[in-house]
Amino acid sequence: MSILEPSELAHVPFVSVENMMRLVNDVGAEAFMRELADYIEADFKRWPEFDKIARVASHSREGVIELMPVADTAHYGFKYVNGHPKNTREGYQTVTAFGVFSSVATGYPLLFTEMTVLTALRTAATSALVGRYLAPKNATTMALIGNGAQCEFQALAFRALCGIETVRLYDVDPAATKKAEANLRAVGFDVTACRTSQAAVEGAQIITTCTADKQYATILTDNMVGAGIHINAIGGDCPGKTELQRDILLRSDIFVEFPPQTRIEGEIQQLDEDHPVTELWQVMRGEADGRKGDAQITLFDSVGFAIEDFSALRFVLEKTAGTDYCVQLDLLADPDDPRDLFGMLQRAGAEAA
Ligand SMILES: NC(=O)c1ccc[n+]([C@@H]2O[C@H](COP(=O)([O-])OP(=O)(O)OC[C@H]3O[C@@H](n4cnc5c(N)ncnc54)[C@H](O)[C@@H]3O)[C@@H](O)[C@H]2O)c1
Repeated sequence: MSILEPSELAHVPFVSVENMMRLVNDVGAEAFMRELADYIEADFKRWPEFDKIARVASHSREGVIELMPVADTAHYGFKYVNGHPKNTREGYQTVTAFGVFSSVATGYPLLFTEMTVLTALRTAATSALVGRYLAPKNATTMALIGNGAQCEFQALAFRALCGIETVRLYDVDPAATKKAEANLRAVGFDVTACRTSQAAVEGAQIITTCTADKQYATILTDNMVGAGIHINAIGGDCPGKTELQRDILLRSDIFVEFPPQTRIEGEIQQLDEDHPVTELWQVMRGEADGRKGDAQITLFDSVGFAIEDFSALRFVLEKTAGTDYCVQLDLLADPDDPRDLFGMLQRAGAEAA
């Protein structure tokens, strides 16, 4: 065999955007998120088994680039993700991502995949999974404030997991609302496009905020949040980038992913460091209360945690292994003698010459 031809150990399965979209469309986006939510829930229920840190964020004036690692004893996963709220004005996406899932035993990657589409799916699957524990029973209507890339995925996940049929949309940019309205009508939602955020929350039992702005924004004011509402706040996810007026937080029971990260990045950065919050893994294990009553205001202060990506990577690895949803990338150097990396380079040079 030619030295230039990669051996089996050199190969890492890679899922491109094209193949990820084919997989999701073949499975169906709602079924995909329902299954993915089961993986996320299973991993949240074994929370103490993970080696966890708050993500590593590199901030600039325009946005943030983050690395999100986490491991259990068998696998290690990480995601590279950015957040640049001004990007859409220049034709770029606000959020793009890719990730790797590896064997802890060898350190070798088992999967390399696009995660821009996968992040939208995992974020929505997590939101709706949390909604199952916190949203009022029999909720049918959700307000969606911020109608960008994440918006439709949120609606679909809440339909698949919580039975939401009606969505009320608002975005500062009417073109974004128009896009989401058309997309969501086409998949059977009862949609109302609203001119203000106040109008959007009318009659909604769940409010999802998924706006992008690099500031302490006020997407919801205190007077807009009535008794019994569940707020799914996903857009406030960086220091200095929040969506809710502080008074709302003081009236809500607040649920978070990983407190050391959420205290830095979430809505609760507006509160004292010891303000009580409930960790979702404990709710899922039945060790802490979720929704306790009809009048309670519940808030999922979502920032996105590495375990959700780990679950998504684990899920995609199982779905794509041995299929044509992945292609083999020649990613890892694999000399015949593992210690003769230089010899391999020399021989490749000679053969190419
Ligand atoms: N929590 C998580 O796990 C998670 C995951 C992915 C993205 N996010 C965050 O979710 C947010 C949305 O992401 P996206 O990919 O949909 O971004 P996007 O840029 O595609 O869409 C954001 C939308 O918000 C709108 N908007 C901005 N300010 C507004 C305001 N004051 N009122 C109403 N609408 C407003 C914009 O016009 C835009 O249409 C971002 O802040 C992103 O960082 C969080």
